[in-house]
Amino acid sequence: MRPSWAGAASRAAGGRRGRPLLSGNWKMHHTHLEAIQVVQKLAYRLSPGDLEQAEVSLHPPFTALRSVQTVLESDETPIALGAQNCHWEDEGAYTGEVSAAMLAKLNVRYVIVGHSERRQLFGDTDEQINRRLQAVLRHNMTPILCVGETLEEREAGRTSERVTDQLRADLAGVGQAAIGGLVVAYEPVWAIGTGQNATPEDAEETCALIRSVVKEMAGAGAGETLRIQYGGSVTSGNAGDLMAQADVDGLLVGGASLDPDVFALVVKAALGR
Ligand code: 13P
Repeated sequence: MRPSWAGAASRAAGGRRGRPLLSGNWKMHHTHLEAIQVVQKLAYRLSPGDLEQAEVSLHPPFTALRSVQTVLESDETPIALGAQNCHWEDEGAYTGEVSAAMLAKLNVRYVIVGHSERRQLFGDTDEQINRRLQAVLRHNMTPILCVGETLEEREAGRTSERVTDQLRADLAGVGQAAIGGLVVAYEPVWAIGTGQNATPEDAEETCALIRSVVKEMAGAGAGETLRIQYGGSVTSGNAGDLMAQADVDGLLVGGASLDPDVFALVVKAALGR
């Protein structure tokens, strides 16, 4: 770990990458009724100061988006609404799909694209991820693009190659300014849901690589404003050390975001509280 809170301190001072972005990806958990309770409890557990210092986003399943939107807006809770995926077309004969246009109408701000579970379990290709990402941008929302290596790739020493290839393919044809406004989540596949998080040093190494690849692709300015999250077995026990890394601007949290008490502790730990 770096000796100082350099990254966190510059963010708190209103650095170019703004406040830490702490996102809860609920995956396929919580009915819309459960979701309402979770959001209300989370809003109660977080202080106005927490929500000023951090930007928190919640990514419920599609069936709960409207309910969560209504709770957040009627209570004027400054938590951003997020989605977990979207189709690239605005409408059409695509049974079972949801478009970016539909998400934008719900005031969704962040859309996860290219999560490793989509890539591995549902066969999402880089080309499809690229199209999803462009659809999110077209509707003025912010993509959270997930990249990361499998255990096999890591053990073969191919982490940098894999992550670089994903970034090049997933961001192909995206303008420099748009790239500078993106969020990229580094989620090593072996760390997701396993209880085995990357060490802060390992997370920093790959997050720094992501920033340098983006600088090469889209210029130094885009690299500096790009926000990078770490995801994979984040808990309140490791959130502070992960956030202390210079190139970690936020966290993408799965299991530890499902329970509002637990997620509130993660947010507070990420803020060094
Ligand atoms: P866990 O925090 O449960 O490991 O999940 C990480 C993740 O996939 C977030 O998108």
